[in-house]
Amino acid sequence: MSEHDSEQEVLRLEGLRKSYNIGKPTEVEVLHGIDFLLRRRDFAALVGASGSGKSTLLNVLGLLDRPTAGKLYLLGKPTHEMDDAQRTALRGSEIGFVFQFHHLIQAFSALENVLMPMMVIGGRPAPKYVDRAYELLEQVGLRGLEQRRPDQLSGGQQQRVAVARALIARPALLLADEPTGNLDSKSAAEVFELFRKFNREFGCAVLLVTHDPRLSDQCDRTLTLVDGNLQSDVRTEIGPAR
Ligand SMILES: Nc1ncnc2c1ncn2[C@@H]1O[C@H](COP(=O)(O)OP(=O)(O)O)[C@@H](O)[C@H]1O
Ligand SMILES: [Mg+2]
Repeated sequence: MSEHDSEQEVLRLEGLRKSYNIGKPTEVEVLHGIDFLLRRRDFAALVGASGSGKSTLLNVLGLLDRPTAGKLYLLGKPTHEMDDAQRTALRGSEIGFVFQFHHLIQAFSALENVLMPMMVIGGRPAPKYVDRAYELLEQVGLRGLEQRRPDQLSGGQQQRVAVARALIARPALLLADEPTGNLDSKSAAEVFELFRKFNREFGCAVLLVTHDPRLSDQCDRTLTLVDGNLQSDVRTEIGPAR
């Protein structure tokens, strides 16, 4: 059990809308007013057809992009009222992101890649982050491989480095956009298990986009987007409450 209150509200969306190309002839609204609440304990899949708006929604929730309208609270803080510097700071401390392609830096070791987010903020990482990076690499099964460069690791191992990197700041929220889409089924299952483990042990809310029903079926909750609307939000949680 984590030190956090599992019922704590992590994300609250109210009437969230997103348009692209505003003011141009090609202007298009992609998200049409999304509402939902995500708590610490949540381990949720975001599913929907290609083009339904999953990546757009994840980018807005990850504070990488701004909503066109509506409210987005992260840990109760109104991100829609923040300037870019405030949003960047909040993203750095509270949000971890894992993409389909890991975006590791090839010239850096696994350890340095995990430490990257802390280096961007303050130059040289504090010793406690170095300790935590070793610990995270051990937790994702990469003990002894800390000094390897990405090209000396398998695809599954590289994605596990990306998971460790996403967690270095101990974020409240882990967002993943088709994180296993590029992996064989065994590596995909292993990476999925890591999300599960960190959701339980760190108490970080997880929202992951996946096309794989074998993975979404194992989530506690499934959010389904259809043409930019949240069509359903189904809890499939079984077993004892955590
Ligand atoms: N930068 C952009 N500019 C214009 N349209 C975009 C942009 N990004 C995505 N879209 C459009 O928004 C819709 C949703 O895309 P996306 O969020 O990538 O969906 P998904 O991840 O579910 O496949 C699609 O119609 C896509 O073409
Ligand atoms: Mg997408």
